[in-house]
Amino acid sequence: MYIDFDRKNMRFMLNTDNTAYIFEIVGGKFPVHRYYGKKIDRPEFMKAKYHSFSPYQFCTDTYFSVADEFMEFPLFGSGDFRCTALKLRGINGDCCTQFIYSGYSIKNGRTEIPGMPFARPEKNSETLELYMRDELNSCTLTLYYTVFPECDIISRSFSLINEGKTAVKIEKAMSLSLDLAGHEFDLISLHGKHMMECMMQRTPLFYGNQSIMSRRGASSHQFNPFIALALSGADEEHGDIYAFNLVYSGNFLDEVEVDHAGNTRVAIGIGSENFGMRLEENEEFFSPEAIMLYTENGLGEMSRKMHAFVRGCISPPEICQNRPVVLNTWEACHFKIDEQLLLDFADEAKKCGIDMIVVDDGWFGERCDDRRGLGDWYVNSEKFPSGLRDFAEKIKDKGLKFGIWIEPEMISPDSGLYRAHPEWCLGCTGRELSLSRSQLVLDLCNPEVVKYLKETFAGIFDGVPIDYIKWDFNRHLSEVGSYALPYDRQDEATHRYMLGVYELYRFFINHFAGVMIENCSGGGGRYDLAMMALSSQIWTSDNTSPSARMKIQYGSSLAYPASVMSCHVSDPGNSENEMRLLDFRYKTALGGILGYEMNILKKSVQVRKEILEQIKFYRMVEDIIKTGDMYRLISPFENTSEISSYYYAKSGGSRTERILFSFLQRNRDEKKTLYLLRIAAADGAYYREYFSGKVYSGEELRSGICINASAEDASGQIMLFELTDKA
Ligand code: DGJ
Repeated sequence: MYIDFDRKNMRFMLNTDNTAYIFEIVGGKFPVHRYYGKKIDRPEFMKAKYHSFSPYQFCTDTYFSVADEFMEFPLFGSGDFRCTALKLRGINGDCCTQFIYSGYSIKNGRTEIPGMPFARPEKNSETLELYMRDELNSCTLTLYYTVFPECDIISRSFSLINEGKTAVKIEKAMSLSLDLAGHEFDLISLHGKHMMECMMQRTPLFYGNQSIMSRRGASSHQFNPFIALALSGADEEHGDIYAFNLVYSGNFLDEVEVDHAGNTRVAIGIGSENFGMRLEENEEFFSPEAIMLYTENGLGEMSRKMHAFVRGCISPPEICQNRPVVLNTWEACHFKIDEQLLLDFADEAKKCGIDMIVVDDGWFGERCDDRRGLGDWYVNSEKFPSGLRDFAEKIKDKGLKFGIWIEPEMISPDSGLYRAHPEWCLGCTGRELSLSRSQLVLDLCNPEVVKYLKETFAGIFDGVPIDYIKWDFNRHLSEVGSYALPYDRQDEATHRYMLGVYELYRFFINHFAGVMIENCSGGGGRYDLAMMALSSQIWTSDNTSPSARMKIQYGSSLAYPASVMSCHVSDPGNSENEMRLLDFRYKTALGGILGYEMNILKKSVQVRKEILEQIKFYRMVEDIIKTGDMYRLISPFENTSEISSYYYAKSGGSRTERILFSFLQRNRDEKKTLYLLRIAAADGAYYREYFSGKVYSGEELRSGICINASAEDASGQIMLFELTDKA
C-alpha cells in the first residue's frame, strides 16, 4: 500500500519507492504539509513558527495562522499572504476563499481528468482524493494526489464543483502547491525563443516572488513549464532536487516565493492571467495535472526518472516501437511542392535507407507561400494532378511510408474559409486582430469549428494511406476572445481553446488509428507533457544547426527523454568540409530520433552513401537512444569551448549491456584538451568498443576514458560499448 491514513493523528502518508510525502489535517479543518523527501523511518516534520502581524484562525496553546503554516493548498483571502493556489469569487462578490476538510477516499489506479491529457497510472499507482467544502458558496473542492511509485513521482490536480444556485468564478487555479522549509535552493528553468528553445538557467532563490510563465496561449518556446529546485551546490550526481512539471499546453505559471520566514513555496498551474472560469449550478472545473519528484542524487537522477515517467506514463504506449527515419520536404522545398520531384526524392531516399517521405507545408489550397491558404484543406490539384491518395499510393509502392503536414488550428485571412466564416477566428468584439506569420487562430472554443475541422480532415484523409501526421502551430494567441462565448465568459477563452485542441487531437488519434503524430510548433513551441501524451515525438527546434542543437537538446534533456526528441540532419552545404559537417550534424542528431531534411538529389554519391551508413548505424543503436538511461557528462552551458558530452546506457537484466557515448564540440580546441570521462559500466564486465574493436573492463570505464578534444571546428566523436565475454 502506497497511500495511508493515520486516523488518530489525522495524517496522510503518500509513498513512492524512494520518497515520502506527509500532511495532516490540523484542527479537523486545515490540510498542513509536514514532510516531502527521502523515505526514512522518522522524518522530521516541518513546524511553523507564529509571527506577529499574522492573522490567525484559532488559538489553543499556540496560534494557528495560515500566514505562517506550511499549507497543503493555500487559499486566497484569509491571511495567507503568499502566492495562492486557488482564488474563487463567491456568491457575495468577494474572493474570500475558505474550504475546510470534509473527508477523503483512497483508490487503486487514478482518477481521469475529463477533457485533458493526463499520465497513465503505473501498475501500483494509487490515488488519494481529499474533499473540502465551502458551505457559504455551496462548492466542493477535491484535491487529487496520484503516486507513481517506480518513477518516484506524485501528481496533483483539483476539481471544483458548484452545487449552489448562484454562479461563482475561479480566478486563479494552481494544480500543485508545495511548501518547503528554508530557501537554500537554486531555481533551474528553461527559457528560450523560436530557433533557440530550452536554454538552461540556474539562479539562487531570493526573498520574494520569482516566477516563469507563458501568456502566449501555448506552453511556448520562451519558457518551458518544467522547473527544478536544486539544493545549493547540487550537481549531476549529488544533492537534493525537487522537480516540477505541468501536463498542459496553454498558458501556465510556475511561481516560487521565499516568504518572511525564509521558507519556500512552489506553485504550478494555469495561474490567473488571461484566465477565469465561471461555474453555474452543477458545473465543474478540472485543473490540469502537475507532477513533482524528489531525489537526493542530483540532476542526473532527476532527469532519468522524468525520462522513465514520460516513456512509461505519458507517451503513447507504442512509443518505443519502430520509429521511421523520415525525409521531410521543408528545408529542401519550402512551399514549392512538386509531385514528380517528390517521387524522385522517394527513389533516392529508398536507396539511402530512409523509411518515409513527409510532405510538409505547401501541398493544399492556394498555399504557395505563408501568406495564404491556411484553413482551405483540399489538395492542390496543380501540385498533385491525380490527387493525394494516388500520390500516397505511389510512395507506398516504392516501399516507403507516407507522412503529411497540417496546421489545423490556423486560418489565413486570404482563404476561402475566412471569407466564409470570419467569425470563426479567436477575436475580441470591435478590436483589430493582430497577424503573426500572416495568420489568425481558429476559435476552437467554438464546438462548430471543432466539428468542421473533424469533418474536413476525415473528408480529405479517409482512404489515403497515411502513416504519419506532423501537426504544426505557428503563432501565439493575441486578442483572445470568442464570438461563441457570452461576454461574462470571455476570459475562459484561452483554457477552452486548449480543451478544443485536445478534443481535436483525440479525434485524430481515434479516427486515424495507428497513424503516428509528430507535434510541432515552429519547432519546440509546445514542448510539454500534454503534447507528449498526444503525439509520439516533437520537432525539437526549427534550428537544425548542430551547434545550436547541442544546447537545445542538452537543455531539453533535463526534463524530456530522447524518445520524444525529433532530430533531423539538414544539408551540410557544399564546402570542402561537407563530409565533416555531415558527420557532425548526424552525430548531434543521434541525441534523439533521426530524420533528414535536404534535397538528396543534389547531393553527391559520397554523401548519399554516407547517409546509408549513418542509418545502418542508427538502426543498431536506436533502442539505446529511445529507451536507455541518459547520463550527462559535460554541459555546453558551462564551458567556453562549447562541448556537450553524454551517454545513453541500456541495461539487460541487472547490468549495463550497451553504452552509446557522445562528445560534441562546436569550436576548435586550440589546446587539444584531454577529458577524462567516467562511464557507469558494470564492475567485473568487459565491453568491446564497436569502432576501434578495443576491449575495456567495466572498472576502466568507471575510472574514466580519455577523450582528446579535436583540433577541428564542429566535430563529434561517438563510441559504442557492448558487453563482451572476452577480456
Ligand atoms: C514550422 C515548422 O517547424 C517547420 O518544420 C515547417 O513545418 C514549417 N512550419 C512549415 O510552415
